[in-house]
Amino acid sequence: MIAMTLDEIAAVTGGRVVGEPGVRVTGPVEFDSRKLAPGGLFVAFDGEKVDGHEFAGTAMAAGAAGVLGTRQTEAPGVVVTDQLVALARLARVVVDRLDGLTVVGLTGSSGKTTTKDFIGQLLARLGPTVAPPGSLNNELGHPYTVLKAGPDTRFLVLEMGARGVGHIRHLAQIAPPRIGVVLNIGAAHLGEFGSVQGTAAAKGELVEALPADGVAVLNADDPLVAAMAGRTRARIVRFGEAAQAEVRAVGVTLDARGRASYTLVSDGKQAPVRLAVTGRHQVGNTLAAAAVALTAGMPLEQVAEALGEVGIASVRRMDVFDRPDGVTVIDDSYNANPSSTEAALRALAALGAGRRTVAVLGYMAELGEYERSGHEQVGRLAAELGVDRLIAVAEAAPILAGAATVGSWTGQGLHAADQAAAIAELDLRPGDVVLVKGSRYRTWEVADSLRPEGVRP
Ligand SMILES: Nc1ncnc2c1ncn2[C@@H]1O[C@H](COP(=O)(O)OP(=O)(O)OP(=O)(O)O)[C@@H](O)[C@H]1O
Ligand SMILES: [Mg+2]
Repeated sequence: MIAMTLDEIAAVTGGRVVGEPGVRVTGPVEFDSRKLAPGGLFVAFDGEKVDGHEFAGTAMAAGAAGVLGTRQTEAPGVVVTDQLVALARLARVVVDRLDGLTVVGLTGSSGKTTTKDFIGQLLARLGPTVAPPGSLNNELGHPYTVLKAGPDTRFLVLEMGARGVGHIRHLAQIAPPRIGVVLNIGAAHLGEFGSVQGTAAAKGELVEALPADGVAVLNADDPLVAAMAGRTRARIVRFGEAAQAEVRAVGVTLDARGRASYTLVSDGKQAPVRLAVTGRHQVGNTLAAAAVALTAGMPLEQVAEALGEVGIASVRRMDVFDRPDGVTVIDDSYNANPSSTEAALRALAALGAGRRTVAVLGYMAELGEYERSGHEQVGRLAAELGVDRLIAVAEAAPILAGAATVGSWTGQGLHAADQAAAIAELDLRPGDVVLVKGSRYRTWEVADSLRPEGVRP
């Protein structure tokens, strides 16, 4: 946030000042009154259960300079007609006023948060970077993240989600990106978009928003993403394993822990990369991050070395850990769709070579008409990869039907009515590798039961 008076905030948001107009907001914006820092702006939302305006006093006690809401409270602040519109306008003003700020926007079906964290870790080596952990990719999280940027910020890395046509265009207006990354188009949110082509149409709005002196970072290995080159004025930098990629991985190998190594090739130079994060799919994610860092001016050798140190910063994503009893856990339970479940199952197979493998898979939401086929497809893959124990939780039962179509499969399929039943069915033995994955909360209890010390950051 940049320092602004209530008067300025009211002018920007079209709101009305309550109290002393010259009061200065210096801290960040928060909508959780418990998170406020001194000088911050508390945004009060009128929720169905809790009315944020009732926490104005708590926020002020925590040092807030003022409250932004849709009605007057006992605290000084600004009254607006719509908090999201007000946040969007404030964010835009902040971005416009910050000279020397490079905005990086990132979208795709799977791996946005993971890759945003990687990009953030790389760019932080070049200068002050805002890329907070978590999945702040909607009309609230996006301006909220933008407002974390201050006068010193050089890079702002924004995850951009699309629930429909026009959403990414709107987010790009709030904070116009100069570098836009499209990771992949897969079977995520198919219920919203109807088809992968529909998803591509919406995600491509990111590259349409780039200026002529911007850079579109596109996945050369994903035809729907590569085709977005025709939708932008910006310079194109392609990443991938394909020969035409400007930022390329050559000679990818996986170690026994499912971690990839490869040679990073760009602009006639090359350097070895050895990742510490798990899964073949991290090759694409780290190449995307490399392309951004190279574009921002980091030398190739430094990018390669830094990639070896990037880690998982947001919870429940490809979090691999060994327990004292010799069981290896892959907690990838944050969310699931058929593409990300495929990536996770392949990681399980890589880590589980020569070991007993267990997969606990929950329901994948938002698949629309692909709901049944999406679950069956995942089940078939689990069986083809030879998962030894496949537990489908609650509405994920069609996974087992898919697995049953693989005649050569010798593993065991089980249906658990709920997460407690799945935990009871785990039957883990020393040396096992267990993957836990499902949409949102649907397998979180299972993942937490494997992690007695609590969820790690
Ligand atoms: N390139 C990839 N391809 C397929 N799956 C991936 C890829 N990168 C990450 N994943 C998997 O996708 C899941 C979600 O990861 P992440 O949270 O980074 O994605 P996201 O795009 O931010 O998701 P959301 O739409 O929920 O915000 C994780 O379980 C992760 O293992
Ligand atoms: Mg996310």
